This record gives sequence, C-alpha cells and structure tokens, in this order.
Amino acid sequence: MKVRKFLLPLLFGFGILFAKPTVYILATGGTIAGAGSSTEKTASSYEAGKVLIQTILQALPKQEIAKYAKLKSEQVLQKGSQDLTPQDWIIIAKRVNDLLKQRDVDGIVITHGTDTIEETSMFLQLVIKSDKPVVLVGAMRPSTAISADGPKNLFDGIVLASSKEARGQGVMVVANSNILSASDITKTNPVHVDTFKPANIGILGYMWNNKPYFLRISSQLHTTKSQFDISKISSLPRVDILYGYAGMDERAIEASIASGTKGIVFAGVGNGNISSSVEKALSQASAKGIKVVRAGRMISGPITQWGEVNDEQLGFITSWWHTPQAARIILMLALQSKITDNAKIQELMLKY
Ligand code: SIN
Repeated sequence: MKVRKFLLPLLFGFGILFAKPTVYILATGGTIAGAGSSTEKTASSYEAGKVLIQTILQALPKQEIAKYAKLKSEQVLQKGSQDLTPQDWIIIAKRVNDLLKQRDVDGIVITHGTDTIEETSMFLQLVIKSDKPVVLVGAMRPSTAISADGPKNLFDGIVLASSKEARGQGVMVVANSNILSASDITKTNPVHVDTFKPANIGILGYMWNNKPYFLRISSQLHTTKSQFDISKISSLPRVDILYGYAGMDERAIEASIASGTKGIVFAGVGNGNISSSVEKALSQASAKGIKVVRAGRMISGPITQWGEVNDEQLGFITSWWHTPQAARIILMLALQSKITDNAKIQELMLKY
C-alpha cells in the first residue's frame, strides 16, 4: 500500500516529463487542401480547399510525428484564402486564443492558402495573447500532386510548434524549410515552392533534420506585447488598398470614399510617391477624417516620412517597413481600437 502511494505520483511525474507536447491543428483550406484530377498527378489545374484535415494528416509519417507531438485537429474553415475575410481572421484568432489558454495545448499549426497567408499571420501576430508557438503552413502544389509540398511544410510546422525554441517568437510561417516572421513576409511568386520571402530583413531561421535553427529574433512587437484585443469584436472597419501607376487620376480614390471606407492604404510608386491629382484627392480625404497611409508598390520598405511628400501638411501616415496589406491590418486594428490620431497611428506602424 505504501509502495503504491509512493510509486503512483512518481510514475505520473515521469509521464508528464516524457509526454510529447500537444499540437493543435486548425485547418482553413487552401492549396494544401487542394485536389486535382484523380488520374493526372502532374496536371496544373486543381480546386483549393477540397480535402479535409483528417485526410491531409494521413500523408504524414505517423511514427515520426509521434516523436515530436501528439496531434489534435479541427476544420475551422474550408476555403481558398482568396475568399477569407476579416471576419474569418477574427474567427481564427478567437479560436487560437481560446485553445492557447488550455494547459494541454502547447502549440498551434494553421493550414492555410498561400495567397493571403501573410495577412492572416500578420493579424494573428497582433492579436494572439500567448507566447506559445503559432505556425501557419500552406502549399504551392495540391495534396494530390506528384511531389506535393504540403506534407513537408505541415510536418515542419508541427515540429516547430512543438519546440521550445519557437516559444515567444511570435506568429510564424514555415515554407520550403524556411521560418519567416509574420511581421516580415510576402509571397513573391505565384507558382514556385520557394515563394515566401521576408519583405525586409531576412528569415527568422530554418528547419533542418526536424529541428528549428533560429538566426534572429524579430524586434517588432507582437502577441503578448501587442496592445490589440479582439475578444469583444466581430468585425473590423473597412480599409481599402489602392495601387498607384503612371497616369493615375483621382477616380479610384473618389470611388473608395463613396463606398464608405474609413481608411486608404495607397501603394505609391518609389518611396510611396503619388501623382499630383491623387495626392490632392488623398489629402482631401484625410481632411475629412479618412485615414491615409502611404505605402509602396515595391516588395521592400521603408516608405519614409517627409521624403518628396510633406506628410504632416497633407495629413498622411507612412507604412515604413510594411507591405500595403500588413499596413492595412495595423490601420484596421488602430481604428477598431478608436485610435485616430495620425501621430499615434504612425507610432504603431513603427513598433509592430
Ligand atoms: C489559396 O490561397 O487558397 C490558393 C493558393 C494556395 O494555397 O497556394
């Protein structure tokens, strides 16, 4: 009897010590869940978001997964990422926050279409309230293709989400063995598996032999250090992105204002430069209380303040290091939090 009393807690303790972390997989669709023709493994055409997570998981080596993590999974959405909306980001983020509060969830992997993975990951980067790893993975080839890249990305994502090294690194995307920060990522090629690149500084690290190797940490604030709280919201204010080009006039700006937008992120040319007629229209929009962010149509930043444009006089904010799509998310969250002062929004562009 005494031996049992002594042994049981000891065995329980050992159990905890040797138990693998639980990684929770949230599936949302995308090419990683895409299916092409059942007979042609090399055809380029396919439909995104067809295959459920249980089937995708069957492509992974079970015994090897078991060395790193216990898995739980859930199909939270089933769409191509081009159809995801800000409401969907909120659904995903609330589920992630709820799951990460559970003591028996150690990390999250989200399977996602690659087209807007940078937007969902940036949103999560700013609203997740946990240090536990959150990793997004996608694929450029559908699950039925010869040499599908989804299983490898998913495997790497699970190993990363189960690792101690990933804690506190913010939201990450793993693709083609590279680990990228949600704060600095963009899709650069519509077909190649090596499509994700940092927009500015460099990858966070890489996966090798089922181990993450981190090269740097992001100095931009994220997750537990972010001020944004979405626990009580179900929508975000409308913010449009407009794209500059030679010969552009003010009509697109007027249409955006007429649609009721609360903010415009303008992807200008060069250092976010804007033609005279567009500049006038944007400045008038700013004077009416519509927030205007000057971003750039090139991949990398920074879009600096007071270059050729007198931002203060015209009422503009600049995106600095952010792509237009990342700057849009910061602006949406700022407006949702009732932050409307240009100088304060400018600070947010720099710190996140
Ligand atoms: C999508 O983003 O859902 C389609 C494209 C992809 O996942 O690569």
